[in-house]
Amino acid sequence: MRIVLVGPPGAGKGTQATRLAEQLRVPHISTGDLFRANISRQTELGKLAKSYMDAGNLVPDEVTIAMAKDRMEQPDAEGGFLLDGFPRNVSQAEALDELLTTEGMKLDAVLDLEAPEEEVVKRIAGRRICRNDSAHVFHETYKQPAKAGVCDVCGGELYQRDDDSEDTVRKRLEVYHTQTEPIIDYYKAQGLVVTISALGPVDEVTKRALEALKREDDGR
Ligand code: AP5
Repeated sequence: MRIVLVGPPGAGKGTQATRLAEQLRVPHISTGDLFRANISRQTELGKLAKSYMDAGNLVPDEVTIAMAKDRMEQPDAEGGFLLDGFPRNVSQAEALDELLTTEGMKLDAVLDLEAPEEEVVKRIAGRRICRNDSAHVFHETYKQPAKAGVCDVCGGELYQRDDDSEDTVRKRLEVYHTQTEPIIDYYKAQGLVVTISALGPVDEVTKRALEALKREDDGR
């Protein structure tokens, strides 16, 4: 399956993407994680991306699209993928359509995770991620690690993301509403959008997502 996951910052896209990718046996491709890996390796791309991310802005399309394309062309993504954080505006969505059309492929669904602003703010404020791998995500209240400050998966140090400060989160939410939400209408016009609530325990949200994707698949 080829799926795009969309939703405001803190809705739980990364959390759900890890679980859904495992169930659906496709790679989880997160442009945010790819940027963070470049930042920790101190690459030129990482240095460029950091300045935009820390301000809560989108990294320019040119570098983002090239990075996403490169990842989608890896052999493990041949049979499908779950995109988390890409596309994030209409021009990225058009670039993805173009890429898929060239390869004779198409998207199966766009899963839209809905969560009210007060909930995403709480989720982001308590989020802690692993220094070794930003896909290892915890929460001070909702998902505490066995040992405070230590990643359960690999033993790495847990820290708060630089872009999770209150001001930057406000900016990221504004960018989501103005630049990312329009892709929902773009994909609605293609009949691809499946909307679910991201509220409730993580397991329940995963179950809801899998059921919604199955209904979508059966309906085709
Ligand atoms: P990115 O890393 O994609 O961040 P985001 O979209 O803002 O989303 P988040 O990672 O903040 O949240 P999430 O929805 O994944 O929530 P999570 O699962 O962690 O992007 C960061 C930046 O990179 C962007 O601002 C931009 O600068 C740049 N970028 C990335 N892609 C780009 C692109 N395509 N174009 C241009 N720029 C790009 O969950 C949040 C917390 O809640 C966690 O602590 C988790 O444990 C907890 N939680 C999750 N689910 C639940 C639940 N059901 N109940 C209780 N707690 C929960």
